[in-house]
Amino acid sequence: MRKIIVAPSILAADFSQLGDEIRRVEAAGADWIHCDIMDGHFVDNISFGPEIVGRVRGLTSLPLDVHLMIEHADHYVPRFIKAGANSITVHVESEAKHSVTKTLLQIRQAGCRAGLALNPETSFSLVEPFLDRSDMLLVMTVHPGFGGQPFRTDQMPKVKRARSLNSTINIEVDGGINAETARISIDSGANVLVAGTSIFHAKDYAEAISKLRGT
Ligand code: DX5
Ligand code: ZN
Repeated sequence: MRKIIVAPSILAADFSQLGDEIRRVEAAGADWIHCDIMDGHFVDNISFGPEIVGRVRGLTSLPLDVHLMIEHADHYVPRFIKAGANSITVHVESEAKHSVTKTLLQIRQAGCRAGLALNPETSFSLVEPFLDRSDMLLVMTVHPGFGGQPFRTDQMPKVKRARSLNSTINIEVDGGINAETARISIDSGANVLVAGTSIFHAKDYAEAISKLRGT
């Protein structure tokens, strides 16, 4: 059995009490902290940048999993590394305006884990050539930009295909993950679960996290 990694997305946290929120998910058993970075160009929303990631670094010893939904990720990667990211995921779509090969290498050379993400509308064939240069594949299970959207089961063939090609790569799912959709994702071969709403909008974070693990 593969170890299941739960990565709460702080996009759904109460930012007026970010310190408390991070301490609460850490105490509740979170494995990583997922930071969603949005630039208002690659996606239709703006979230936060390296400054906040650096503050989060000071609040927890958990690995920081940084998901860049931005144009020209290569330009910003050094700032997120400096801020303390442990993994950085970039998008494969041409709208992200960077060289995927070069950015993945740039992330790895900085001693960080490199992830590659694809949107629901994007064909799996686009990421396939990069799998052996990535430490993680992020299969978006909603169109990125906003928390609280329903999970797209139609993305599971991508997870299954990736798992059949590579038994060791981390496969992360992101968007609409709750107890039920976590089970569907794990059964398809995913081992990293990003969840915003189902954790931060729950009363009991520990219960929410253990439900995601199926325990
Ligand atoms: C989507 C982000 C997700 C999102 C997940 O644009 O990449 O990480 O915050 O949120 P929920 O779990 O609420 O779908
Ligand atoms: Zn994300």
